[in-house]
Amino acid sequence: MSEKANIGVVGLAVMGSNLARNLASREGNRVAVYNRSKERTELLVTEHPEANFIPSKSIDEFVASLQSPRTAIIMVQAGAGTDAVISQLAERFEPGDIIVDGGNALFTDTIRRENEVSAKGINFVGAGISGGEEGALKGPSIMPGGSKKAYETLGPILASIAAVVDGEPCVTHLGTDGAGHFVKMIHNGIEYADMQLIAEAYDVLRQAGNYSPSEIADIFSEWNKGELESFLIEITGEVLRQVDEKTGKPLVDVVLDQAGSKGTGVWTVQTALNLGTPVSGIAEAVFARSLSSQEAQRQGAGHLPSKTQTWTIEDRAAFVEDVRKALYASKIIAYAQGFDAIRAGAAEYNWDINLGNVAKIWRGGCIIRAQFLNRISDAYAKNESLLSLLFDDYFTKAIDTSIESWRKVVAHSSLAGIPNPAFASSLSYYDGLRAKRLPAALIQGQRDFFGAHTYKRVDLPGVFHTLWSADRSEVETTPSSH
Ligand code: 6PG
Repeated sequence: MSEKANIGVVGLAVMGSNLARNLASREGNRVAVYNRSKERTELLVTEHPEANFIPSKSIDEFVASLQSPRTAIIMVQAGAGTDAVISQLAERFEPGDIIVDGGNALFTDTIRRENEVSAKGINFVGAGISGGEEGALKGPSIMPGGSKKAYETLGPILASIAAVVDGEPCVTHLGTDGAGHFVKMIHNGIEYADMQLIAEAYDVLRQAGNYSPSEIADIFSEWNKGELESFLIEITGEVLRQVDEKTGKPLVDVVLDQAGSKGTGVWTVQTALNLGTPVSGIAEAVFARSLSSQEAQRQGAGHLPSKTQTWTIEDRAAFVEDVRKALYASKIIAYAQGFDAIRAGAAEYNWDINLGNVAKIWRGGCIIRAQFLNRISDAYAKNESLLSLLFDDYFTKAIDTSIESWRKVVAHSSLAGIPNPAFASSLSYYDGLRAKRLPAALIQGQRDFFGAHTYKRVDLPGVFHTLWSADRSEVETTPSSH
């Protein structure tokens, strides 16, 4: 075995340590490790002698322990810390060496960093890594960007540690500079939507169906055997089964109902807003977390009028099936919107992202891993330029069999006063998308009225402005050049 390491990891908190151990467990890898506080490095090396790590106490020592081309994965918290480590490495690395940022960086930061680092001839790869602590250790889904050249060296190393589905490692080169972190950001946005939709299904089952958390856990276990099969459905069952040792109550009833977030969902929505791509399911998921955390307002709102109507459930099995279908249909919308955002981002930033491959590498290792990603990858394999996932036969049929239930759940929830923003907005998006005519025409009229913003006509080419007036005799339409 080589005296030097073929790969190094900087930043040895849980994700970094687990990734380093994963790398070390694969044949052919020798792993150098470095952390700013040396105690963490010592602990990792002492606890895992089997990994045969090459530890370093300083960044100079770390760089010297890497074989050429030097390849180092940074696993520190996104932000200023990442910039600091990048500049330390860039000062010491040589042209052809590779710096990988494996954190949840904002893709525009990755584009900037790639620009700065590549000016020195050093490769910079922003790689999204999903799967949490366990994924990092046993096999994550990896979403790398950066140059094709860097991927020649890095690709096999990443493939050696990634999750494997149907013999294929869950990693692929997604495109230049920020493409990897962009795709990881959308992954997280979809993760938010998926979690919110599952939470809404739980809430309807609980509030309207009066099922207990453990009964709902059983329902989720059943659902996990069918088209909803996924990591998030599986863990939801486990969360709902958990009993609080202190009180004997279901733990979910003891947990404060204010959802936290670290920002990647917000980035997804901000980016989609800039791209003009509706990701309404994801946006509602982000806002639902915000609403949950508006403590003072929520406390003051309990007395507000509701005028709700009771949701009478005659057939409990049919009710559960309705909720399942509402969840599945809304989930399809969330993924369709997420893939739309990737396509829009790829067009904006000149990335050649293969959407089918994105679906493939999300089949294993990551938080949104799910059976139905196979269907998404099939859809793009059949038609690479599919305009919307909803146009693929499989998904058209899936919506066809779910839509009545979906409408029922949204309508009844609304009457009963059960909030389900993601179910409802997904359905509205769907109805908006398929509408022959939208009230956007009226909005154009309003815009032209107060701001002379002009409009186009359905029957004539060109751009028009009307002198709108209450006195109809003064109304006049003129072609306009702006
Ligand atoms: C993953 C997760 C991971 C992290 C989320 C949590 O893919 O492994 O997405 O990156 O758990 O960022 O995000 P919030 O704290 O914002 O829910």
